[in-house]
Amino acid sequence: MARQRPGAFGPGADHGRWEGSLSGEGSRLEVAQSRRGCLKRAGGMGAAALALPAAGCAAVGRINSHTLDFSTDFGVLNYAYSLEVMESDFYNRVVASPPRGIRPEELALLRDIQQHEMAHRRFFARALGPLKIDVPERDFSSVDFTSRDQVLTISRTFEDTGTAAYNGAGKLLSLAEFLSIAGKIVSVEARHAAALRDLTMNDPRAFAGDDIIDENGMERALDPPEVIDRVQPFFRERFRLSGLPGRMA
Ligand SMILES: [Fe+2]
Repeated sequence: MARQRPGAFGPGADHGRWEGSLSGEGSRLEVAQSRRGCLKRAGGMGAAALALPAAGCAAVGRINSHTLDFSTDFGVLNYAYSLEVMESDFYNRVVASPPRGIRPEELALLRDIQQHEMAHRRFFARALGPLKIDVPERDFSSVDFTSRDQVLTISRTFEDTGTAAYNGAGKLLSLAEFLSIAGKIVSVEARHAAALRDLTMNDPRAFAGDDIIDENGMERALDPPEVIDRVQPFFRERFRLSGLPGRMA
């Protein structure tokens, strides 16, 4: 399916307007008032922008499923949103009941990361509005939240995976606007990963180890199917992936 080329939001557009103009993390009922509300929202963006929201609105029918449809930028944003929901839920649990033996400076670090992940989650929820998917329920039953080592190791794995996920998803975005925002988020994920690697890997060079940085000095990138495979154990229902380019599907 030909990718939807967006209209009004190319280079030079002011994303402050974009962020400010959309709904908060609305109730399911609001989200359910899907197609009509979505097109009404599209109307507010002016005729030139109809191409983008209309494509998105067409996706509304799939909102209530766990489908990540990468044929539009909204699918890519929902993919990022799902990862941010998983991470923020994890850190919310850690901060609410810290593991035994965690040092004050380690907990302060985890609190900062929690705040960032919550901000990322809120941002995508606002940006997606009625196009936000129904993220599968989280499942952390395999995690021993009383164990400092396990909590820090899983945190590191989440941040390494999150960074590689953004790096792998960038090429699927068509709107330069979203790419620039993703760039500002992935650098934060990478900082989280570096700090946690420093804390957990007992190697002063681990922050940028050659297990994640290649010979060109580039950070590793993972494609969505591989990322979803890695995080699927932390969700009760399965994600469905669609619209991926042939070599990735
Ligand atoms: Fe994040």
